[in-house]
Amino acid sequence: MEREEILRNVPIFADLERKHLKRLAKLMVPRDFKAGDTIVKEKDQPAGFFVIASGKVEVVREAEGGSPQVLNQLGTGDFFGEMALFEGFPRSATVRALEDTECLAITRWDFLAELSSHAEVAVAVLKTVVHRLRDIEARLTE
Ligand code: CMP
Repeated sequence: MEREEILRNVPIFADLERKHLKRLAKLMVPRDFKAGDTIVKEKDQPAGFFVIASGKVEVVREAEGGSPQVLNQLGTGDFFGEMALFEGFPRSATVRALEDTECLAITRWDFLAELSSHAEVAVAVLKTVVHRLRDIEARLTE
C-alpha cells in the first residue's frame, strides 16, 4: 500500500486534507519489524513516533524485582512513542512486535512541528492518550 493511503486509514490523521497527508507521507519512513523485535526500549532516549501500518505490538513495562507487565496491545492504525517525545523524557515502556509489523516512523522534530501546525492532529493524539489513561484507571479500580 502507498504511504499516503496507509496514513488515510490512521484515525489521528483522518481529518487532514490531501495535500497535508501527502506532505506527511514524505516525512514518514517505513520501518519493518519481525515478530519478537523490540521497537522501542524502556528508558532509552526517544528518537521518533510510530504509526502501525500493519501487524501487532505489545506495550510492556519492566517491574523492579517482579515480572514485566503487559500494559496494552496495539494494532493497525494505532500509534506509539508520543509520551517520551512530549515529555522529553526516556521511553516509558518497551514496545515489542507480536507479529511481523510494518510501521511508519517520523522524527521527534517533524512530529512536534506537525502537531504545532495541525491542531486537529494534536487533538486526535490527545484524545487517544486520554482514552488510554481512562483504560488504565478503569483497570486499577476493577
Ligand atoms: P513512549 O514513552 O515514548 O514509549 C513507549 C510507548 O508505549 C509510549 O510512548 C506510549 O506510546 C506507549 N504506551 C505506554 N503506556 C501505554 C498504555 N498503557 N497503552 C498504550 N500505549 C502505551
